[in-house]
Amino acid sequence: MTERAAFPLFPHRHLLGVKDLSPSDIELLLDRADEAVAISRQSEKKTSTLRGRTQINLFYEASTRTQSSFELAGKRLGADVMNMSVSSSSVKKGETLIDTAMTLNAMRPDILIIRHASAGAAALLAQKVGCSVVNAGDGAHEHPTQALLDALTIRRARGKIARLTVAICGDVRHSRVARSNILLLNALGARVRVVAPSTLLPAGIGEMGVEVFTTMKEGLAGADVVMMLRLQRERMEGAFVPSVREYFRYFGLDAEKLKAAKDDALVMHPGPMNRGVEIASEIADGPQSVIQEQVEMGVAVRMAVMEALLDPRRNPEGQAA
Ligand code: CP
Repeated sequence: MTERAAFPLFPHRHLLGVKDLSPSDIELLLDRADEAVAISRQSEKKTSTLRGRTQINLFYEASTRTQSSFELAGKRLGADVMNMSVSSSSVKKGETLIDTAMTLNAMRPDILIIRHASAGAAALLAQKVGCSVVNAGDGAHEHPTQALLDALTIRRARGKIARLTVAICGDVRHSRVARSNILLLNALGARVRVVAPSTLLPAGIGEMGVEVFTTMKEGLAGADVVMMLRLQRERMEGAFVPSVREYFRYFGLDAEKLKAAKDDALVMHPGPMNRGVEIASEIADGPQSVIQEQVEMGVAVRMAVMEALLDPRRNPEGQAA
């Protein structure tokens, strides 16, 4: 069993969004996550940091990366992890989110990880339950651990975030990943651009501290990082793009469009990817892609977050003891 080093106390009981985090909160989580990467690369991956603690994963929306990495993260920290199967639960009989959460809360978990289609679901739960809550994605609102793992991937590849130019491209309008990344990258001093057809840009995007582009050639010019987003058809009501073929022609990342960015620009995608829609396979699997590194950093960041939230120096009410 590997014991973890002491870090400063993280000043939050829940992780509901990047908007609640200061630059030093973010750096603290990234520093903790760096240590978790080293642990995950050892043959002995298990620590005792969360031994005796109970983690419940409550996913109302499909997930491959986030749910499995939260489960692995909890297990590597020594917690007891339960994956609540929403599809075979009493949710199917009409039980509300709050009733389900209160039922689970009565079993005295220490941390609840929630993904839900409604913006604000995680914040609502945090007001009702007696344990820490982590937002694993709420509608088109926030996905804070995705932004943290993206930042960790960039920081490890480039040694810094400040003053890098990051182009976030695609369906910004429906993307919680874009929103959390814009908040986090701005907090750490990056120059953030968004690149999308005007139909896929949310109202008021210019007030989020980003430069807005509607062509890939201009938006990618000289970029250090190109972050592609999935076309989120499940959140679209009506047609936002004329056709997938047309979308790929103008906004899909291929070798020709990538030439506009720096020669060594990092290519990122949070997954799941639609190959041939927002990214060409040759780029997703190519030498500039750090998509698999993002997945690895996901486990480390989630270890760091849970460890920070459940710091034993805090009392059961979440205050510093
Ligand atoms: N990036 C992300 O949230 O992936 P999943 O939907 O597979 O969890």
